[in-house]
Amino acid sequence: MIITIDGPAGSGKSTVAEALAKKLGFYHFNSGSLYRAITAHFISNNIFDPSTPLFENQILKCNIQIKFLKNIQHVFVNNIDYTKMLRSLQVSELCPIFSVNTHVRNLIDKCQKEFCLKNNVVIDGRDIGSFVLPNAEFKFYLDCEIDERAKRRLNELKANGEIVPFKEIKTKILARDEFDKNKEHAPLVIPKNATIIDSTHLTIEQVVDQMYQIIINKK
Ligand code: DC
Repeated sequence: MIITIDGPAGSGKSTVAEALAKKLGFYHFNSGSLYRAITAHFISNNIFDPSTPLFENQILKCNIQIKFLKNIQHVFVNNIDYTKMLRSLQVSELCPIFSVNTHVRNLIDKCQKEFCLKNNVVIDGRDIGSFVLPNAEFKFYLDCEIDERAKRRLNELKANGEIVPFKEIKTKILARDEFDKNKEHAPLVIPKNATIIDSTHLTIEQVVDQMYQIIINKK
């Protein structure tokens, strides 16, 4: 069975997907990690620009693989495990540039489909229920008001010892929303027939519980 969770940055979809997968005994497939792993691979090979012939040449030889080791998702590119690099600042900054490349998207689409069609998964992303797996059994769109998303990000950064003004965080999230909604390939949209859940005034447990009830009642 495939359950998709899409939504804007900061809506809590990864956290919710992980908790829901645990409750159902499914794999949690985080699609953003694949884009991050491809980016990490190119950074490691000193390629920082996907518009160069060198990139074009390399991407066609790339092989991407997902493995769950002790129930944690690991992403391999050409047999190298990039999992530890995925959240680095450099990967986060360059990932949006690599993730809009058509070759990158095609490679990742294929990997996502292959894994999800063979396993029970909760997969989160921005284009999963709309473009990658539109026939998934359950599709959710997790929304959240901008101020709450900025507040969550602020607290996350604070917990890491980083103090960033609220206004600056909010501006960045709004810019990210615009980018995600207006990109040429697979923009962020509410997938057809998706259940929309607004997490603004809900805890993670409440969101997971709503999803779980919908799944259990329809299964
Ligand atoms: O959710 P995240 O920050 O880990 O995503 C990393 C990057 O990958 C981000 O630039 C958006 C992109 N992405 C995408 O284009 N499609 C997805 N399904 C998931 C992520």
